[in-house]
Amino acid sequence: MAKKQTVSTLKAMKNKQNITMITAYDALFAKLFTDHSDVLLVGDSLNMSFAGKADTLSATLEQMIYHTKAVCSGAPNSFVVCDMPFGTYFDEKTALINAMDVYRQTDADAIKIEGGVEIAKTVRFLTQNGIAVVGHVGLMPQFVRSEGGYSVKGKDSISKEKIIEDAKAIEEAGAFLVVIEGVKKDVALEVTKELDIPVIGIGAGKEVDGQVLVWSDMLGFFEDFTPKFVKKYLDGATLVKSAVEKYSTEVKDKKFPTDEYTY
Ligand code: KIV
Repeated sequence: MAKKQTVSTLKAMKNKQNITMITAYDALFAKLFTDHSDVLLVGDSLNMSFAGKADTLSATLEQMIYHTKAVCSGAPNSFVVCDMPFGTYFDEKTALINAMDVYRQTDADAIKIEGGVEIAKTVRFLTQNGIAVVGHVGLMPQFVRSEGGYSVKGKDSISKEKIIEDAKAIEEAGAFLVVIEGVKKDVALEVTKELDIPVIGIGAGKEVDGQVLVWSDMLGFFEDFTPKFVKKYLDGATLVKSAVEKYSTEVKDKKFPTDEYTY
């Protein structure tokens, strides 16, 4: 079993070894992922693939705590990050109360929040109070309703500068890792060069310090839509459907259980 990562070992990986991060929402899959991922992210994306909602915005802190507890139980040797859901960090005090709740009720090692310059004060307040913070810049899914959809960021110089400023502000405020999502590859490269902390990309090209993917996307279980940046390492949905179809047929035809599966 690999040694559990810490804030300092992850920071030390910058410019040495790429960081692998994958989302996990439950103990079963966390256990399967733990040996081959440096970080498990309990992303609020679970609100879409697991709760069946159209976006992440209705995820609650209670829900995130429930899933984080499960992931920590299944993978006690993993560095676990809990995503703070929409509306739980709108000011410094609220953010700290909620982040402390996550720390108190789960074994999460860090929390993740979306935003840049605008939330730098909050990041500082959290880190000054003992919370390890992962930032999230570029395309921020919690802004999907206010922005009217998801769109690739950093296409023009103003957007590019804003992302770089956001990432720098988050680092300066004390974040130890930054996720950069849905940006042109040159923007991700620039941010990675500018920052001393590791930059983890999702839909941001390969010139970063690591990658994160949503597990139900990369293993082909989530069929509603597939963003361009998702590589399917397994056709999970087809495998599951054909296995269940086979089971159903065997039950109906009284072919299961055979003597082998009978006491
Ligand atoms: O919620 C999530 O899974 C995330 C990843 C997309 C980084 O934030």
